[in-house]
Amino acid sequence: MEKEKLAIHGGKPVRENKIFYGRQWIQDDDVQAIAAVLKGDYITCGPSVDAVEKKISEVTGAKYTVVVANGTAALHCAAIAAGLGEGDEVITTPLTFAASANCAVYVGARPVFADVNPETYNIDPDSIEAHITDKTRAVVAVDFTGQAVEHDRIREICKKHNLVYICDAAHAIGTRYKGQPEGSIADMTCFSFHPVKTITSGEGGAITTNDPELYKKLRLASQHGIVRNPDDFVEKNPEGIWYYEMQTLGYNYRMTDFQAALLSSQLNKLEQFSNRRKEIVNKYNEAFKDVPEIIVQKEIPESDTTRHLYIIQLDLDKLTCTRREFFDAMSAENVQCQVHYVPVYWFPFYQNMGYTKGLCPNAEKIYKGIMSIPLYPMLTDEDVESSIAAVKKIVNWYRK
Ligand SMILES: Cc1ncc(COP(=O)(O)O)c(C=O)c1O
Repeated sequence: MEKEKLAIHGGKPVRENKIFYGRQWIQDDDVQAIAAVLKGDYITCGPSVDAVEKKISEVTGAKYTVVVANGTAALHCAAIAAGLGEGDEVITTPLTFAASANCAVYVGARPVFADVNPETYNIDPDSIEAHITDKTRAVVAVDFTGQAVEHDRIREICKKHNLVYICDAAHAIGTRYKGQPEGSIADMTCFSFHPVKTITSGEGGAITTNDPELYKKLRLASQHGIVRNPDDFVEKNPEGIWYYEMQTLGYNYRMTDFQAALLSSQLNKLEQFSNRRKEIVNKYNEAFKDVPEIIVQKEIPESDTTRHLYIIQLDLDKLTCTRREFFDAMSAENVQCQVHYVPVYWFPFYQNMGYTKGLCPNAEKIYKGIMSIPLYPMLTDEDVESSIAAVKKIVNWYRK
């Protein structure tokens, strides 16, 4: 195949305008849903929040849902509800957004990083087991890029060692494991509705659970620790009907009613968005299967994945460029990638806490070669073709 001059060297880019690795899709019905709430009586703590919680419970098969301000708040509430604190250890993956580990730090616990499977990039259950000590209290497993983790094995490990199982499904609304929707598998499941996720409420998050006790704690954690139902009061003779009661230390992590209305409207399109994401993933998989320089993420058969990110891993032994050069060349072709993620313990905050590089060799090796290429439902087939063309053009240029 003849080499075509790269845009970064002054050649013609594969496309005129820039596309990004992810973006939201807001349509007129979404805008109308928000506007209707804004003109109503409640713009926060109103009926749209109750309605979307009910809807999320239906979609995920969970008994209870608490919506919150964002996915980070969801994880913080889960850590509080799990009763985690000083002296406790929480096992998680380094190949994730920092919030998956930070939730342990918020409550005074220590994150412990288990390595990932080199092919699926998800946390490796054997590595979880290897990191269990008498201080371990919980596992935060992340459905990385939307693919379900190996729930059966992780659940078994948690049961055996009496650990709380938290699933960070920030990437994975709509994903199923052995036919069961994410949200009803772990003890608590946390979602994010940030704009690059499959559905969005601007900022937003949710925690789902089947356990009524955890549900109560999640509510308290997200609403100042305040209860309003007189039956639940410690004070049996309240002075008047204005009385409400703060029973634990909580936070104001509430979602507004207009965001809840947007989220409900987006949930109506979950299947449509999910199907389009799957179509694009299939196109990419097909396009890269005969490109030995590009390694794609393997899927376990148990996961029916609504993919949030599509990651290509460069086989740098087969290329003359660095990841940085490849990434910059993609930008010049007008296909803007991103890297998900820098291993969490590489950040100065964690280095200052005593974590050292080299803890999780698989995650570190994956990090060195990866980038996320555009994946979102608004992409046209032409957009997808141009991403593929950019990857192939650059591989062809730098092939050894
Ligand atoms: C795996 C993971 N967990 C948690 C979060 C936090 O979600 P939010 O940005 O809604 O706070 C994100 C967000 O990108 C994420 O990717």
